[in-house]
Amino acid sequence: MAIYIPEDKLAEIRNTANITDIISERVVLKKAGKDHVGLCPFHSEKTPSFTVSAVKQIYHCFGCGAGGDVFSFLMKYDGIGFSEAVQSLARRYGIDLPERNMSASQRKVASQRQQLFDLNKQVMSYFISQLSGRSSGQKVRAYLEKRGFHQEIITQFGVGFAPDGWDNLVRFFRKLNVSQALAEKTGLVVPRKNTGLYDRFRNRVMFPIFDVSNQIIGFGGRVLDDSKPKYLNSPETPIYNKSRSLYGAHAAKNKSRETGSVYIVEGYFDLLALHQHGITNTVATLGTSLTAEHISALRRGFAQKAFLVFDSDEAGLKAARRSISLFMNAAMDAAVIVLPKGYDPDSFIFEFGREAFEKASETAIGMVEFLIESSIQSNGLSMEGKVRVISDLQQPLLEIKDSVARSIYIKYLAERLSVNETAIIEKIKSGEKRFKQAQPNNWLKHNDDKQSLSENDLLIESEMIRVEKQIVSMMLKSPEILPEIKKRRVLDYFSDKRLIEIAKIVLKHPIYGDEDLPGLMNHIESTDHKNMIASLVIDDECRDLNNCEQLLSQFINGIERRQSSLLSQIKSAQESNNDELLFELLRKKQEQLINR
Ligand code: UTP
Ligand code: MN
Repeated sequence: MAIYIPEDKLAEIRNTANITDIISERVVLKKAGKDHVGLCPFHSEKTPSFTVSAVKQIYHCFGCGAGGDVFSFLMKYDGIGFSEAVQSLARRYGIDLPERNMSASQRKVASQRQQLFDLNKQVMSYFISQLSGRSSGQKVRAYLEKRGFHQEIITQFGVGFAPDGWDNLVRFFRKLNVSQALAEKTGLVVPRKNTGLYDRFRNRVMFPIFDVSNQIIGFGGRVLDDSKPKYLNSPETPIYNKSRSLYGAHAAKNKSRETGSVYIVEGYFDLLALHQHGITNTVATLGTSLTAEHISALRRGFAQKAFLVFDSDEAGLKAARRSISLFMNAAMDAAVIVLPKGYDPDSFIFEFGREAFEKASETAIGMVEFLIESSIQSNGLSMEGKVRVISDLQQPLLEIKDSVARSIYIKYLAERLSVNETAIIEKIKSGEKRFKQAQPNNWLKHNDDKQSLSENDLLIESEMIRVEKQIVSMMLKSPEILPEIKKRRVLDYFSDKRLIEIAKIVLKHPIYGDEDLPGLMNHIESTDHKNMIASLVIDDECRDLNNCEQLLSQFINGIERRQSSLLSQIKSAQESNNDELLFELLRKKQEQLINR
């Protein structure tokens, strides 16, 4: 996408925005020397290799290679375009962007999400005003009061009321001059069969759902009596992705980080009840099952430990079975709290209070232990019972990728059942075989590729790219080498197109100090290239190039040797009539020519 925001504005945003602040709103970062480190949000890892440099205003992950500046971080993390990333930073830091620089279509794409956020906010205010209204609001206030909720918590979470009737919100949108298309996009009104719209939420207590930046992405609504469905939620919209969103996350983040743990409950009122009792490190799943995205967002941005709070054994079992491997693979500790029969977190804490709830969390047990104990409870410890317990645990244990963790649980299970450990391992393995047979087994596929380029050639090629990277890294860190690079036409020998492009930009915009780096980033549009630059700049491996000149000579000599060896390979392929190899080699030769 073309950059249509004026250079000076970009520079202003870049100078004002602090990458460490922006990223730490989304990822828990710890200080490490001059930099900050955390768990990479872009791949799954257990030890932090995601580095943020405040001095250089870039981030880089040593694990997966992701990297770039504050704009590319937001683009990647929030899944938005460049212009939206720029706009959101500008908004956040109070920098005015001249709108006329956007084309009509660009403005449309960039602003649709914003329009939806704005509209949701107005809808929240509308619902709040309905709740405080004289007539119908009265019965809702009484309902909330009867359930024990204080005004502060209702205000804090923006709880409101959607009055009875088919077109209250429809008329509200009309008054705001909202187009029918945009109104529909909110998911709050639904097209009628013939023509027109009607309200999705009628006569319901309304809960706005916030994202971590406090923007409203959707709503949930509860009936005031026993009618069905008890709860209704917004459908997915351009701004509401259910597998990523958790209710209450915006209010739970700080306390979760502070305490290192987060409670996961099922419902809106469960969450409000815990918050009202001071347990503010709580999020709610809202009737959907936990996804890998939920868990990794919690693990990276909230806390290391999760407590899953369930109303009943069955609900807990179901959730534990479904999400156990997700927690394991995200390296998040998870424990299950099962409340006494007939209670949910809401009714439990109102009846027994905060201390009792905290006591319950002290006795929470780990997920695997929970599965084992539940299975023992329902199957017993007779011989047949034990067989069934092991078979219940087979699948969950199989899904644990970490072999150390797996063997610890197997040992525990063996001891708990007084069964030989190796027998259990056998049983698990039998499942593994079946598991693998069901999948295409790539590793058994015969390598029937014709003899082509030798492995050695590939090695040389990757070695070349490694040296090319070193050279560009050197160009970024030691600008005094740039004249030499030009003089010896080093780039003509490069094989990697991406590195050639980057090196050319570096030649044009040399970096004399860290403060020049943001300016250089301005000239790079591709996120891929930004990743590469960040990795080259931040990678310490390339720092000790004590002899730049020597590296250059080695590189150029190596190339020349390689070229002459290519020529002799071509010759021998011609002589032995190996057409396929010849073709491959010629293609390679041509590639070299194109790159020059
Ligand atoms: P529950 O049925 O346990 O309700 O559903 P609750 O949270 O205890 O609600 P109260 O206390 O009776 O008011 C748990 C959650 O599952 C989702 C809602 O998010 C609810 O909070 N749910 C439930 C739905 O989405 N739709 C439904 O019809 C029911
Ligand atoms: Mn409840």
